[in-house]
Amino acid sequence: MKVTLSVIKADIGGWVGHSAIHPALEESARESLAVAKQNGQIIDFCVTSCGDDLQLILTHTLGVDNEQIHRLAWDTFTTGTEVAKRLKLYGAGQDLLADAFSGNVKGQGPGVAEMEIEERTSEPVLIFMADKTSAGSWNLPLFKMFVDPFNTAGLIIAPSLHQGFRFEVHDIREHKKIFFDTPEEMYDLLMFIGTPSRFTVKHVFARHDGAIAAASSTERLSLIAGKYVGKDDPVMIVRSQHQFPAVGEILEPFRYPWIIEGWMRGSHYGPLMPVAQKQATPSRFDGPPRVICLGFQLADGKLIGPRDMFDDPSWDEARRDANLLADHLRRHGPFEPHRLPLEEMEYTSLPQIMEKIKGRWEKL
Ligand code: F6R
Ligand code: MG
Ligand code: MG
Repeated sequence: MKVTLSVIKADIGGWVGHSAIHPALEESARESLAVAKQNGQIIDFCVTSCGDDLQLILTHTLGVDNEQIHRLAWDTFTTGTEVAKRLKLYGAGQDLLADAFSGNVKGQGPGVAEMEIEERTSEPVLIFMADKTSAGSWNLPLFKMFVDPFNTAGLIIAPSLHQGFRFEVHDIREHKKIFFDTPEEMYDLLMFIGTPSRFTVKHVFARHDGAIAAASSTERLSLIAGKYVGKDDPVMIVRSQHQFPAVGEILEPFRYPWIIEGWMRGSHYGPLMPVAQKQATPSRFDGPPRVICLGFQLADGKLIGPRDMFDDPSWDEARRDANLLADHLRRHGPFEPHRLPLEEMEYTSLPQIMEKIKGRWEKL
C-alpha cells in the first residue's frame, strides 16, 4: 500500500514568549484533524509540539505537495491562530506569512517534510523536530546516519546497507539541487553540506533499491520574507530497519550536541540538545536548541505510537554535554563564535548603528 507521511509545522503563537505551545493550540489542531480523519481525507494524525512550534504529523494517500493536505494544515494553523489571539499568546500567527492559502504551504511560512512510500511488511519511522535552530541542522546527523561507519555499523556488516545511500542536496540560496552517491562521493558531498546555512540535505535514498530513506524541511523564512520573521525550526522523517539504518543507528548521531545556528534571536551558535517531548521547552537564553524524536510503526497508514525516543536515560550524558557546551559558549556573550557572523544574524541593529556613526569613520 502507498502511504504519504506529511509533517507540517508552524509557530502560530508561543506560551510563554517563544518557549512552548499552549495545550489549547494542540487541542484546536486535534479537533480540526479529527474532522479530516472522519471525512476520510487523512488516514491518521498525531499532534505534538517542540518548543514554540506546533507539529502536525499526517498520513494519507494523496502524495506529496498535495493541495488538499496543505490546505488542511493551513486551515488548522489559521484556526489555531484565532485561539492564540484570544489567549494573547506571543507572536500569534507568526509563521503564516501569506494572507491566504495559495495551493501549497511551501514558501508561505510553515515547514514541511513529506515522503510517499510503499509501506513495508513492517514500517518503523522516526520523526525528528527541532526548535531554536534552522534548516540545515540535519546535515551532520544525516551524514553520520547514512555514511559514517563509526556511527552506522550496518554500512559495513549488513548486505542491505552496504551499497550506500544517495543524497539530494539543495542550494537554498540559488534554488538548485544535486545528487551525490555515497560512499564514493562523500568528500564532494561534505564540501557542500558542511555549510548548512546554504546547502541542505533534502532527501536520502537507499541505493540498494532506490527507496526513499529520509526527507527534511529546508524552508528558510528569512529568505522567503527578506527579513527576520522567526526561525525555520526544521523537521525530518527517517525510515528505519532492514535496508535502512536501525533505530539505534538513526538516533546515535544525537549523542553529541552538535553546534548549530539558532538559539537566542536566531543569532547564536548553540548545542542541539536531544530531549523528551515534555522537555522541549527552551528556557535558558531561549534555549539551548532542542531536538525531539517520535517513533511510530505504520500499519496501513495508521500511526502506531508515538514512542518518545529521547525519553531514555541513555541520553543523559548528551544533555549534560549540551549544558556544558552551552555554558562555555554563553561566556562569549556578544562575541563570535557564540554570536553568528554579521551577515548570518536573524536580528541586527547594524544598519541603524552604521547610519548613526557614518560621518565618524576616518581613513586609515
Ligand atoms: C529564536 C526565538 C527567540 C526570539 C527572542 C526575541 O528563534 O524565537 O529567541 O528571537 O525571544 O523575540 P521577539 O523579537 O519576538 O521579542
Ligand atoms: Mg515563536
Ligand atoms: Mg520555534
